[in-house]
Amino acid sequence: MILKNRNLISIADFSKDEYHHILKLAEGFENQPVSDIAKGKVVATLFFEPSTRTRLSFESAAARMGAALIGFSDASNSSTAKGESLADTIRTVSCYADIIVMRHPLEGAARLASDVATVPIINAGDGANQHPTQCMLDLYSILKTQGTLDNLNIALVGDLKYGRTVHSLVEAMCNYNTTFHLVSPLSLKLPSVVKMHIKEHQLVYHQYTDLLEAIEKADILYMTRVQRERFLDIQDYEKVKNAYILEKSMLKNSKPNLKVLHPLPRVNEISTDVDNTPQAYYFQQAQNGVYVRQALIAAILGLK
Ligand code: CP
Repeated sequence: MILKNRNLISIADFSKDEYHHILKLAEGFENQPVSDIAKGKVVATLFFEPSTRTRLSFESAAARMGAALIGFSDASNSSTAKGESLADTIRTVSCYADIIVMRHPLEGAARLASDVATVPIINAGDGANQHPTQCMLDLYSILKTQGTLDNLNIALVGDLKYGRTVHSLVEAMCNYNTTFHLVSPLSLKLPSVVKMHIKEHQLVYHQYTDLLEAIEKADILYMTRVQRERFLDIQDYEKVKNAYILEKSMLKNSKPNLKVLHPLPRVNEISTDVDNTPQAYYFQQAQNGVYVRQALIAAILGLK
């Protein structure tokens, strides 16, 4: 399995066998998270858009393996604020780091970065496009909670139009004979280009506006935030921002194996009364991000 020096820009950049290799490595890191295998390596985290989980879990992952960290969490403190192009920033940071993890508000920014970088680029989210490392930790969380990735019913709820985590996850789960239950307001339906992947794999999807209808069919209920920052007109956001709010009482007819996932952050879409139910898995999901990102860094640096 050759992942050394590979970029991870879209989840489609890795094969199904490569997903499994990363998931296996992640399991090893969960069992033994601390080592010095990345001692002497430098990991750069360049975040042009806010983040808590992705940036900090990448930094935690790197630190647990002994790597040094450089980067910024606010591009207004970088030379971007002086007008430097993304390409020049990436060329420069390539001189200082062995791998670059970057988030950017523009779709395609990570691909552009990979065209000019001399070290591997990991896309930590580019606009409404892709979030492949979130996808890998979602796969890990699904596998851990269901014991398999095959033949599951996955309900995806909320902002399916702009939700980059949803786009990556649908693409990956098309490899596992998934039945998709797509729950969204009419204005936030899954884009046709993503639905094409489902059709190409001859899989089934159902579309709903009613959340309850989908919950009882689901093995995984993947809630997402309606993302204020993706709307050009704030009034459009106001109309749909609270379209779906999952409450504990809504889980009473769910399958016994149901788990609720959410890439987080949440705003109102999961009531806090769900947090202590056996179905809630979103904070463990965030924790799984550390092990999966250790696996990705180690594999791409050729350490594992
Ligand atoms: N899941 C996720 O991408 O969270 P952050 O925006 O906090 O990184």
